[in-house]
Amino acid sequence: EKVVLAYSGGLDTSIILTWLKENYDYEVIAVCCNAGQVEDFDAVEKKAYATGASKSYVIDIQDEFITDFIWPTLKAGAVYENDYLLGTSMARPLMAKKLVEIAEAEGAYYIAHGCTGKGNDQVRFEATIKALNPSIKIIAPWRIWDLESREDLIAYAEKHQIPIAQSKEKIYSRDQNIWHISHEGGNLESPWNEHLDDIHVMSVPPEKAPDQPTYVEIDFVKGVPVAMNGTPLSPLELLTELNKIGGENGVGTIDIIENRLVGMKSRGVYETPGGTILYKAHSALEKLILDRDTMAYKNLIAQKYAQLVYDGMWYTPLREAIDAFVNVTQEMVTGTVKVKLYKGSCTPAATKSDNSLYSEEFATFSKDEVYNQKDAEGFINLFALPLKIRAIQKQNKKGG
Ligand code: ARG
Ligand code: SIN
Repeated sequence: EKVVLAYSGGLDTSIILTWLKENYDYEVIAVCCNAGQVEDFDAVEKKAYATGASKSYVIDIQDEFITDFIWPTLKAGAVYENDYLLGTSMARPLMAKKLVEIAEAEGAYYIAHGCTGKGNDQVRFEATIKALNPSIKIIAPWRIWDLESREDLIAYAEKHQIPIAQSKEKIYSRDQNIWHISHEGGNLESPWNEHLDDIHVMSVPPEKAPDQPTYVEIDFVKGVPVAMNGTPLSPLELLTELNKIGGENGVGTIDIIENRLVGMKSRGVYETPGGTILYKAHSALEKLILDRDTMAYKNLIAQKYAQLVYDGMWYTPLREAIDAFVNVTQEMVTGTVKVKLYKGSCTPAATKSDNSLYSEEFATFSKDEVYNQKDAEGFINLFALPLKIRAIQKQNKKGG
């Protein structure tokens, strides 16, 4: 028998690799997805073999992640609980898809992952596996074994001679990819502890950012960013550049309490420098182009989209249907946004588009062809009619 393991090279998944071999006597195929995290992938591959994997894959999923997961979510304007740009949530279905593909190619009936039984990630991985290949069985060691803490893991590693880089002190649980890095645990566990400056990985704390603002121009075509400061870039280049410039200006750090799908609240710090710039810029461009009703309806749907993504419901008819709606709204979202970055803030400063519905001519107070101020009187009479009828009735009751 073979089992495909979602492997990162870290302490947890190294222990899982050993534990699987010890407890199941399966061949372990370690799969590490490069979603843009800073990592020595050659070393990860070597470590997988050294820890006992029969085969080790490192697959670069960055382009697919950006094009097929990040862009649709950006176009939808999906933000979980008004803050979280879904960096971890979006990546899980793609990773799970890769695990399924490799399991099928290798003839493996099992997939194992290192998510705890208390988090969202287990749901995202497993829901995707079920959606794509319901015959694959899932092994989630955290829900099976009796190792319960970091100390237990370290003791297990020492007993089985698994090399550990981490120290015994409480550190953050982190998840990084090209879109963001998340930090949970450690001293964040008390919501009364302010997060420390040294938590930062992809950005500087706003206080340490330059005293001069930086401007950046982003071109969008049909809602998708395609160029920075006039230079066309590939999705990966664009995001890499924006992360750099956003990070240098301390843009995109949030520190929030969120509601996990599994019922509990958790506290996390998220750095999403480039992504924050893109969300702000995209929404500024939409304000120039979308009509009022479409924009309002799209905002409603964005909340649902965020929840679907957060909950790991990527491979669902509803998500696909919303994408179809969103794509229609994006037909005209082509143009340029100039964004000002300054000590953690990110403000759209100027916008332009050939599809702009904004017209200086119509918005000014001078005479023009399409808007006759006299029309407003009849409009207000009917628009406010229910208010007027109610007021008259109130008056009549008082009088009579
Ligand atoms: N709370 C975030 C989410 O649910 C981040 C999870 C981070 N995952 C991790 N394995 N460290 O999307
Ligand atoms: C985990 O528990 O595996 C990470 C946190 C999460 O999934 O929400």
